[in-house]
Amino acid sequence: MIVALLHRLKKLPRAVHGWSVMMKPQVVFVLGGPGAGKGTQCARIVANYSYTHLSAGDLLRAERSRSGSEFGQLIDSYIKEGKIVPVEITINLLKKAMEETMKADEKKFRFLIDGFPRNQDNLQGWNTVMDGKADVKFVLFFDCGNEVCIDRCLERGKSSGRTDDNRESLEKRIQTYLQSTRPIIVQYEKQGKVCTIDASRSVDEVFADVKNILDKES
Ligand code: ADP
Ligand code: C5P
Ligand code: MG
Repeated sequence: MIVALLHRLKKLPRAVHGWSVMMKPQVVFVLGGPGAGKGTQCARIVANYSYTHLSAGDLLRAERSRSGSEFGQLIDSYIKEGKIVPVEITINLLKKAMEETMKADEKKFRFLIDGFPRNQDNLQGWNTVMDGKADVKFVLFFDCGNEVCIDRCLERGKSSGRTDDNRESLEKRIQTYLQSTRPIIVQYEKQGKVCTIDASRSVDEVFADVKNILDKES
């Protein structure tokens, strides 16, 4: 009887689904123009701090290549055009990735969400689906001039195989960034939630600033 009870107690946390028995996810949004170095810096952060990196762009590219995905073609055309995919798709991918990460290891509740929210639709989708379920601690904003961003992406395009690392797509991506993403950063700035980093410098110099911020904020 006691053994059976102990057995049940031990099993209980695993049997409860959802996030209710886990730590509330702690989120840092990572924003900046295309090629600003978001992915590069997130990789550095993961190597030095206990964060899980989720790139909205990477998740969309994976969904695009998933056989049987009903969204493959839509995602493909949005990415080439530098447009922002409807949030219903992106938020589900992010939520699922967060849930899977936390289910696999309950200590992994700190997330760097890279390339999101990129427009008002993204932000609304986050607020609708994630409000109260995760805490947005702050926004890391990698600030970088458009020319530097374009040059870095063209250089990356020599080996990335990405359909959007070409001049035509990049011009559209920069427009989307200026028209749709910058206003989101401004909104967070008004809430005092943005840590801005000059991302035009070397990877090491940028990361030194990132470390200062994370050591203070985390
Ligand atoms: P993002 O995720 O913001 O699009 P990436 O991290 O993929 O940007 O970086 C874009 C390209 O620029 C990559 O080829 C990367 O190696 C390079 N890169 C990243 N940070 C720097 C930097 N500080 N200086 C020079 N090149 C960089
Ligand atoms: O961040 P990354 O450069 O990987 O994004 C590539 C593309 O993925 C974007 O230009 C956009 O078409 C799509 N994307 C999106 N919504 C996001 C993030 C990326 O539609 N939140
Ligand atoms: Mg990236």
